[in-house]
Amino acid sequence: MSKNERTSSISGFYKLPVDQRLSLVSEFASFSDDDSLGLQKPIPVDAADNLIENVVGVFELPLGIAVNFRINDKEILIPMVTEESSVVAAASKAAKIARVHGGFSATAGDPLMIGQIQLLNVNDYSSAVETILDNKDKILQVANAQDKILVDLGGGARELEVRILEGEYGKMIIVHVIVDVRDAMGANAVNTMMEAIAPVIEELTAGKVRLKILSNLADKRLVTATAVFDKETMGGEAHVDAFLQSYLMAAVDPYRAATHNKGIMNGIDAVIIATGNDFRAVEAGAHAYAARNGQYAPLTSYHKDEQGNLVGKIEIPMAIGIVGGVGNVHLKAKLCKKLLGVTSAKDLAEIIASVGLAQNFAAVFALSTVGIQKGHMSLHAKNIAMMAGATDDEIDTIADQLVKEGKVKLDRAKELLEELR
Ligand code: HMG
Repeated sequence: MSKNERTSSISGFYKLPVDQRLSLVSEFASFSDDDSLGLQKPIPVDAADNLIENVVGVFELPLGIAVNFRINDKEILIPMVTEESSVVAAASKAAKIARVHGGFSATAGDPLMIGQIQLLNVNDYSSAVETILDNKDKILQVANAQDKILVDLGGGARELEVRILEGEYGKMIIVHVIVDVRDAMGANAVNTMMEAIAPVIEELTAGKVRLKILSNLADKRLVTATAVFDKETMGGEAHVDAFLQSYLMAAVDPYRAATHNKGIMNGIDAVIIATGNDFRAVEAGAHAYAARNGQYAPLTSYHKDEQGNLVGKIEIPMAIGIVGGVGNVHLKAKLCKKLLGVTSAKDLAEIIASVGLAQNFAAVFALSTVGIQKGHMSLHAKNIAMMAGATDDEIDTIADQLVKEGKVKLDRAKELLEELR
């Protein structure tokens, strides 16, 4: 299949057996036989032992593929790692509706991360700030001397910002160093730079540096994605209006905004985990960014266009990379990046933001029409059947019956299993 011929629009993908899904994905991504096998094999315990401490085993999570995504005019199959049923189905459904108007358009800014230095115990705070700014070039030079490879790739420490803040124990100077980390997530590069410039700043100001660490509020590394969700495919303008009313609750109520954003992170985390990135870093950045104006707010926004279609937009910090970190040693993470066809951190950020928007659209669309339980619980029924002890063919039989009865409950599943056996 040539790159121009391939499409992510695969109707009924979810009805196929696992091996047929895998062979479609392998063909789409031009996987070798080893690659295809690699998607199903657990990572060896020995490899896991090199990743974290005190290893005693590996913990597997399902890897699913969301279909129908078209992002920046490219056909993309999305690998998603999650334990939650209905997430992959929901993303695929949203992408199907978005493709009617061409799919998602996404843009990531430069990969700029912020390193922080906390400076204490200076005699004159204003003149210390002045001294730091006067020596900006010297400080940036020391930072850049730590990472020749990054600088050769066109990245490195770019800018320096200084603030004076006051805490319970008095004033402190906070120095921000803005670092272009290119295709890395950047934590290691930035932390090394901060530790190298700390003594320089102490010497210049005769103060004491306490903290020297990256900030996870990566608000200089934003990505936006937009999509038009087709009015007719949504079931008409009344459904678009119902959607907008539901969305507006998140815009005014932080209790709702938290759940709304959780729905976004269902999709974002799933791709971040699949590609071996740090989902805690992105979660922390997302929620801090959502609260930037003093009230916790939704990370997506929606309006109607002149034709009555729903237009959605997400804006979110995205501290992820395609080089360095576990993503380069974990076989499945490497294969997931190969499937996505990403060649830069920017590409990956644009895909992840699009999935976040899709996920949010699907959840709010379900909530504003049939409610969440219909789709979510019908897919969750299989989990309940397994919890009741069902195996093999029993799982589908019991799940179908639970959905038919509208009672997706463990005690009922146990009764059904007893009857069946
Ligand atoms: P549906 O209406 O039955 O789907 O929705 P459809 O028949 O219209 O199918 C449309 C497409 O969806 C399909 O296209 C598939 O791509 C996909 P086709 O193949 O037919 O051409 N699709 C599926 N993919 C895999 N497995 C399936 C499947 N069914 C359809 N079984 C659906 C069903 C579950 C998608 C819908 O009800 C939905 O989107 N629900 C929302 C589910 C959701 O958001 N789950 C996340 C967990 S809940 C949560 O944590 C977040 C929340 O609290 C956030 C918030 O409050 O904002 C809700």
